[in-house]
Amino acid sequence: MKLLGIFLLLLLSACSSNDSENADVSTGKAVFEANCVVCHGKEAGGLVSNWKEKDVDGKFPAPPLDGSAHTWHHSPMQLLKTINGGGIKMGGQMPAFEAILTKDEKQAVLDYIMSLWPSELKTKYDERFR
Ligand code: HEC
Repeated sequence: MKLLGIFLLLLLSACSSNDSENADVSTGKAVFEANCVVCHGKEAGGLVSNWKEKDVDGKFPAPPLDGSAHTWHHSPMQLLKTINGGGIKMGGQMPAFEAILTKDEKQAVLDYIMSLWPSELKTKYDERFR
């Protein structure tokens, strides 16, 4: 009985540390699906086959954010800056989310995006930026 108690305690503490991480990623997924998926596509995979090619209106389409484009070359600060400021000011198409999302929602959506990256990219990224 005592052993079972210890086992349950370990199980609970293991779950709670994981849960806080997953809660962020699942909040981030919800934020992404409500605000970003229309342009960046399902699981941030992009909507076009070639994101480096301009649209008919002469603008670049939304790039995938899942690690297959450039997103992982940019620091967390830079990525948050893009989320806050968008790209319209620079001649792009992304709206600014500064006043639309809370600080926590922005962080959560960034955590979600990073959770989509292949683990070897994530490791490189963490070595470079964290
Ligand atoms: C109206 C379409 C649109 C929406 C909605 C949108 N984006 Fe974008 N996003 C773009 C485009 C287009 C670019 C490329 C820069 C530009 O043209 O503004 C971009 C660029 C980015 C980048 C930089 C990519 C990189 O490789 O550095 C990030 C990060 C990003 N978006 C995140 C988001 C997040 C997070 C959301 C939702 C909160 C979102 N975007 C919503 C169109 C959109």
